[in-house]
Amino acid sequence: MPTHEAGWAHAEGALRGPSWLREPADPNALVPQLWSSTAVKTDGALVIGGVSIPDLVANVNTPAYVLDEADFRARARAFRDAFAGYDVYYAGKAFLCTTVARWIAEEGLCLDVCSDGELTVALRAGVDPARIGYHGNTKTEPELRRAVAEGVGRIIVDSFDELDRLERVTASLSSTGSIDGRQPVMVRVTAGVEAHTHEYIATAHEDQKFGFSITSGDALEAVRRVVAAPGLELLGLHSHIGSQIFDTSGFEVATRRVLALHAQIGSELGVTLPELDLGGGFGIAYTTQDDPSDPAQLAIEMRKIVEHECRDLGIDEPRLSVEPGRAIVGPAMCTVYTVGTVKRVELDRGAVRTYVSVDGGMSDNIRTALYDADYSCTLASRGSDAPPVLCRVVGKHCEAGDVLVKDEFLPGDVRPGDLLAVPATGAYCRSMASNYNHALRPPVVAVRDGVATTIVRRETVDDLLATDLGVAP
Ligand code: LLP
Repeated sequence: MPTHEAGWAHAEGALRGPSWLREPADPNALVPQLWSSTAVKTDGALVIGGVSIPDLVANVNTPAYVLDEADFRARARAFRDAFAGYDVYYAGKAFLCTTVARWIAEEGLCLDVCSDGELTVALRAGVDPARIGYHGNTKTEPELRRAVAEGVGRIIVDSFDELDRLERVTASLSSTGSIDGRQPVMVRVTAGVEAHTHEYIATAHEDQKFGFSITSGDALEAVRRVVAAPGLELLGLHSHIGSQIFDTSGFEVATRRVLALHAQIGSELGVTLPELDLGGGFGIAYTTQDDPSDPAQLAIEMRKIVEHECRDLGIDEPRLSVEPGRAIVGPAMCTVYTVGTVKRVELDRGAVRTYVSVDGGMSDNIRTALYDADYSCTLASRGSDAPPVLCRVVGKHCEAGDVLVKDEFLPGDVRPGDLLAVPATGAYCRSMASNYNHALRPPVVAVRDGVATTIVRRETVDDLLATDLGVAP
């Protein structure tokens, strides 16, 4: 399938939209499974957390990310409760700011960070370092030094070079008395399962940058090294098979392989590993074609897989952890834009495509352009009786591939000044936002019980120029 929009526009049948997209009886209606739990339409206007989106926009302008606090907290709690007895690490890479880090801690979850910046946010928010896991495939010595000195609860080791650095860091910090005791670590392994959106394949899996390969023997070698390192304490193995996964069969294969290594470590090295981390990756609904499992269902299936494998291997069950990011924050946030232009473009054979341009784009949501991701949207400022028209919602960047929503039915009278809201933008949108074309990254506004609170403000021109040292006074 061509990913460039000029290709889609000219593809046969493109103007009917994808096969899963049905023309709605009422283009004003919300599809509940795509929206956070408090989202409703009142007199045509979108209301989230008891806050009218047009009123919110009157205060903060657009584009803006709107985060439904009650929904976010409920999803965090649902994971905590479903995986009771496990540790649930919220993957901060999906979206992190100090407020969200605090919510995560208040709801009893741990936090997974993968950079010094994310660690800084977590610590600034007051998250207990012992409840932080630190990821990354090439952590530097200063980053490791800081993580160890701060008392990060687990460092997930990803390479032999990193092990060298970590051993140097722990030796140096303990020689100065800056730390006492050993640094807990996990060894990230590649289980030979490459998860895709709806499938997994068990080939080509070694051809990526993360972790130690189980099949090559590197994983066992890394474990030997950690066990022998005086400054390190091995908690267990870590496996993350991918993202936006809808069924547990990929986890099942991965868990079987990782537990086999876990058992081998017990029998060959005489080391019983207390823990096992199965990563994140649980899928969410971006459009009506997605049908994710809820955390309770996922937890039941994952517990069954682990129980079964441990019974077969004759080993005790390790304490498990999981690392959901998208499934907690993704559906809790939407992005609100103002329509700037509506253009009806004549294509071959007389077909017409309606381009709806908004005041954001690939700088606040790169996922459509980068992953060919599907999104939906709704008119957020008013109801309309106009019959639905298939539209393509595009951004304002100087790039034809700057598409936000490839295909959506909107009321046919959609016009400049209308507000559009795109659901399920909580994960990997603000966190992957850029200043492309010197765009100012939008604010994140939390809504709850009728109150809107800006938790990340909009960037300003001064922010934009703060690093530009060539500006004349
Ligand atoms: N744990 C580890 C080690 C990870 O690498 C990730 C995501 C997660 C947990 C959380 O995965 P989640 O539950 O959020 O799917 N930018 C891409 C996704 C990249 C995922 C990176 N790692 C996207 O927008 O789809």
